[in-house]
Amino acid sequence: PKEGEENLRSPICCIMGHVDTGKTKLLDCIRGTNVQEGEAGGITQQIGATYFPAENIRERTRELKADAKLKVPGLLVIDTPGHESFTNLRSRGSSLCDLAILVVDIMHGLEPQTIESLNLLRMRDTEFIVALNKIINPFILQMDRLYGWKTCKNAPIVKAMKQQTKDVVNEFNMRLTGIITQFKEQGLNTELYYKNKEMGETFSIVPTSAITGEGIPDLLLLLVNWAQKTMVEKLTYVDDVQCTVLEVKVIEGHGTTIDVVLVNGVLREGDQIVVCGLQASINLGPIVTTIRALLTPHPMKELRVKGTYVHHKEIKAAQGIKITAQGLEHAIAGTALHVIGPDDDIEAIKEQAMED
Ligand code: GTP
Ligand code: MG
Ligand code: NA
Repeated sequence: PKEGEENLRSPICCIMGHVDTGKTKLLDCIRGTNVQEGEAGGITQQIGATYFPAENIRERTRELKADAKLKVPGLLVIDTPGHESFTNLRSRGSSLCDLAILVVDIMHGLEPQTIESLNLLRMRDTEFIVALNKIINPFILQMDRLYGWKTCKNAPIVKAMKQQTKDVVNEFNMRLTGIITQFKEQGLNTELYYKNKEMGETFSIVPTSAITGEGIPDLLLLLVNWAQKTMVEKLTYVDDVQCTVLEVKVIEGHGTTIDVVLVNGVLREGDQIVVCGLQASINLGPIVTTIRALLTPHPMKELRVKGTYVHHKEIKAAQGIKITAQGLEHAIAGTALHVIGPDDDIEAIKEQAMED
């Protein structure tokens, strides 16, 4: 980068919330994919990762602000399960992210895993934006009374609100007020984002529909602007590899692979790596191996869904990556991946790997 210019990596954003609030569907809406419908029981059971290049974000937010200056190369979004049995995955996801989207169903308000997610984020002082999702739902019920929400596909939320009848707006405001009160009971100030004058103190709410896309431009722009405005230091790229194993899985034709999130640094094909492993399900031991292939899904595609992969000689952070290598069968998800540099002491790095 030129002098005085920031060398920022993509922010990592975790999407969290109670089961079935529409986390995956929101990502589907942005990606133009159908991941949610392919899930067993419509339930997310793994951590996912999707990379959104800056040009796609620019495209999607054009209507809001044609001149939005994006300083980050893109946005890496980590999808997490909301089902109560996956607390460990929510914890893993939230520990990796720079900021988060907390999804709340406008009909249900705060639910047990909303509060659990909220506490995980607060524990690490992670900033988040509330997506108040399913704004269409309450109004569909009233369609026959002609008070239904008028769909404005992919529109910024203020524009969509202007199309609604007074009754719809009233109902929306009533539900919004209730949810703001629920957040208050959790000790948090929240406000509609375009009325929020003190971001940082008061958390922003973006009303969304994952089905018809209202509010999606707002959510994306808010995330990226907030990140590049307030997290420059955190997002300044550094060469030291910081990388976490998300999932360990067998992929046909590739053997056991690991899905990782590369937060900083560069990974290269042929790199010697160390990950924490579990032998014979009792003995912890470092796994030293060599990266055989570095794979990513195409941009705007989900890493956890089987598809065609892009092969890379090297990849710079931040990215969600699938690594193929020998001996990964016993790798432990949630632990750090270390790269052995030419001048590094292998034993010291092995020890470090076991400390995670
Ligand atoms: P888990 O990952 O299992 O916790 O669920 P999730 O939060 O990812 O929710 P998911 O995307 O699986 O959506 C759950 C259900 O809500 C699906 O049937 C979606 O079609 C529906 N849904 C999601 N978003 C919206 C929305 O904005 N409006 C309406 N009407 N339905 C939605
Ligand atoms: Mg999901
Ligand atoms: Na679901």
